[in-house]
Amino acid sequence: MLARGPEILGAYRRSGKEFQVSPAGVVPLLGSVAAAVSEAIGRVRPDLAGADPIVRRSDRADFQSNAALPLAKKSGAKPAELAESLVWDLDAAGLEVVESVTLSGPGFLNIVVTDAAIWSQVSARLADDRLGVAADAAGQRVVIDYSGPNVAKEMHVGHLRTTIIGDSLARVLDFLGADVIRANHLGDWGTQFGMLIQYIDEHPETPWHQDELTDRQASAVSALDMLYKAARTRFDADQEFADRARRRVVALQTGDESTVARWKEIVAESEKAFAAIYDRLGVLLTSGDYVGESFYNPMLADTVTELLDKTVAIDSDGAIVVASQDVTGPDDTPAVLMVRKSDGGYGYDSTDLATIRYRITSLHADRLLYVTDSRQALHFQLVFEAARRAGWLTDAVTVDHVAYGTVLGPDGKPFKTRAGGTVRLMDLLDDAVTAARTVVTEKNPDLPAAELDAIAEQAGIGAVKYADLSTSRIKDYTFDPARMTAFTGNTGVYLQYAHARICSILRKAEDLDGISVDPSITLGPAERELGLTLDGYGTVIDEVATTLEPHRLAGYLYELARAFTAFYDTCPVLTAPEPVRGNRLALSQLTARTLGHGLGLLGIAAPERL
Ligand code: ARG
Repeated sequence: MLARGPEILGAYRRSGKEFQVSPAGVVPLLGSVAAAVSEAIGRVRPDLAGADPIVRRSDRADFQSNAALPLAKKSGAKPAELAESLVWDLDAAGLEVVESVTLSGPGFLNIVVTDAAIWSQVSARLADDRLGVAADAAGQRVVIDYSGPNVAKEMHVGHLRTTIIGDSLARVLDFLGADVIRANHLGDWGTQFGMLIQYIDEHPETPWHQDELTDRQASAVSALDMLYKAARTRFDADQEFADRARRRVVALQTGDESTVARWKEIVAESEKAFAAIYDRLGVLLTSGDYVGESFYNPMLADTVTELLDKTVAIDSDGAIVVASQDVTGPDDTPAVLMVRKSDGGYGYDSTDLATIRYRITSLHADRLLYVTDSRQALHFQLVFEAARRAGWLTDAVTVDHVAYGTVLGPDGKPFKTRAGGTVRLMDLLDDAVTAARTVVTEKNPDLPAAELDAIAEQAGIGAVKYADLSTSRIKDYTFDPARMTAFTGNTGVYLQYAHARICSILRKAEDLDGISVDPSITLGPAERELGLTLDGYGTVIDEVATTLEPHRLAGYLYELARAFTAFYDTCPVLTAPEPVRGNRLALSQLTARTLGHGLGLLGIAAPERL
């Protein structure tokens, strides 16, 4: 067994920077190397003990430490001299993990690890359900606010990204051991309900339940959407109806029984439609996660009182507002949050204030994430500022607006239907699945139709998610079904296919249970690259948890698939003599499991055949 070195890690941890150790005791090579360099720094220059060893993967060696330059600057030493003494010290330490350390440039250390250390990683990760990944977020409670569609309106392209990104972050943080609370902040309250309920009452013949439509109608339109449009048209055209609708709002707000009952029916009908989308997307959201705006109604009055008492909110012509101390509008006046309108009504701002207060003071969240498009950045900035001033949001709680860009249509503009309307989410998914059906059929001309349908569904949905998650989230991206479902390039289908191909190699190997890794085998360059890439899995997951950028994981999985291809092109697996065959099978198996698991964290299926 290799000295992966608890003693080494101890030193690194003392430096104040925890390095992940999985529950099964697996330490990534990056961590061991960083710990070794950290120790060397402490020995060579005790005054610099605890400094960050700045170790990264490198093209020139396995790892590189860039610490000597900044440390020399800090301590007045010559960079080359400091780096040289680190090389010398690391050599003399005779570590089992480190094969060689050489000096490069004005003070970089190029570090090569031993073949045995890489093999030992492979076998340790393979033996662990968690693939050697530490549970770095254990003990943390995270509320993730995502999806948040609006009741009585159909989910549209605008809800795609929040649902997909939020789902992936929920999976990543959950895997890292966090206590994740998924909060689907449904738009289930507001003045529009007065109009809808009044219209239903006056037009009892209007179908507004989806199952009242014929199958043909139901596949093309949403009954609730039709109701919404009809009610809106009437509201805008008929002053008296509008007045009756407004009185209905009051009836709803004051708890009139029949009005509230009708409202509940409408919410339930909408939730059915949302569930159908969530089901198809395969996201984790369930009805237990629906905590709509209405949930916060009973807390609104208290929230306002507290904000007034703390003089965070002020009266402004009868309205209660929070004037920002940080942000000013175009006319140089402070940006404001509308806490309560002058007519006594509450809106989106009021609810979000009550929501953040509840999540911190009642749910005791350590971390709050809000996944909405970047156009809501100012809104959340103001909500966070108010929460800070109110004393709810302290330094013990982190809060992030997880902003993302727009989904663009084929013309490079925000996605609209040909007629200029909003694109239904279901239609988008259908388009992607249809495109996937074409490529999957080309690849498997002999499969029966039902099987092709099932594969196309997984490939199409996976393609939509991957296209979204592989783009840096703040950027816009174009929804292009043909490109998203291509078998080549950085696509979900490519990764699913790479995974399925390795599964097929493994199926042919048969004797997988007996795989054992012989650490004395010399690694070829492609094997080494693959082994080191596999070793970086936990590091990239941690990065996603910190930066809230799933595209880092997507990019990692793509690199991993490519590293496997390069390996498989040059290293025969099934026909290699033992013990090389066993080692290569272990690399293949760990790659398949890592790809499958990583796709899972993105919410993407990894079928064994494609
Ligand atoms: N319903 C809102 C929308 O469709 C999204 C809700 C986001 N969450 C929140 N706490 N404001 O834009």
